[in-house]
Amino acid sequence: MTRIIGIVSGKGGVGKTTVVTNLGVELVTKFKKDVVIIDCNITTSHLSMVMGMHFLPITLNQVLRGNIPIENAVYTHQTGLKIIPASLAVKDVEGIEASELKKAVKHLLGKVDLILLDSAPCLGREAKMTLDVSEELLFVTTPYVPSVMDTIRTKEMVEPSKTKLGTVLNMIENMRHELTVKEIENLTEMPVLAQIPYDRNILKSLAAKQPVVTYNPYCKASKQFLKLGREITGEDPINLEKEDVIGKLTGLIKGVGVPRF
Ligand SMILES: Nc1ncnc2c1ncn2[C@@H]1O[C@H](COP(=O)(O)OP(=O)(O)OP(=O)(O)O)[C@@H](O)[C@H]1O
Ligand SMILES: [Mg+2]
Repeated sequence: MTRIIGIVSGKGGVGKTTVVTNLGVELVTKFKKDVVIIDCNITTSHLSMVMGMHFLPITLNQVLRGNIPIENAVYTHQTGLKIIPASLAVKDVEGIEASELKKAVKHLLGKVDLILLDSAPCLGREAKMTLDVSEELLFVTTPYVPSVMDTIRTKEMVEPSKTKLGTVLNMIENMRHELTVKEIENLTEMPVLAQIPYDRNILKSLAAKQPVVTYNPYCKASKQFLKLGREITGEDPINLEKEDVIGKLTGLIKGVGVPRF
């Protein structure tokens, strides 16, 4: 059965795209799942850029206009993660029919294990498109009051029948003025599934056009994405140690995925 998980937040810029890309790669490479990630942030799309896959010719925009079957907009990243990009061009926002997403996603059911939807921020029509299509929701927040408040607002917009998996707490700097995990769990009434530190490796990986889990699999942020994979699947990673050695060697040969300390 295909799981449809929306990665959402009330506030913008808290790390949704970072979570979708890195969780997606971990689920494919460490948990051997067949995963497709979809850029549902039509107006300010970043997903393909973050994956280093720029200007792909067929995008979700054409699918939502009803012109093209969704299968034609699927591209495969070198890690094996499948991606459906949104157009990076502003002019392509015209004529989009948000209700088409639900119909389009139905064509992927049974063909992959997981579909991860990278939501637009806030509570507008575009973000609602992800809430409508998702069966399960993963909320991303920073450890600050406005972000947590908007998480609670977003959660209130989710239909009761849908599963609220929990929260990913991102950009933690362990400062005294941050909300604690316990406070966030009490306020949101959801478990914190991963605690991702503010980690410059994420910004460096962005410049290197690859997810941090391949750029530096051993940094603190990457370890939390692996933990998140465990939480989402309820499984342990497969042959992690053996594969890590092979991965390191392959990375050295290719010049990608080389750990940088
Ligand atoms: N833990 C982190 N440490 C350092 N930088 C981070 C971290 N998480 C995300 N970032 C950076 O913060 C910026 C915003 O992250 P991201 O694009 O994932 O947020 P978003 O919620 O998808 O934003 P939007 O709402 O605009 O779609 C990016 O430049 C990203 O590289
Ligand atoms: Mg984003």
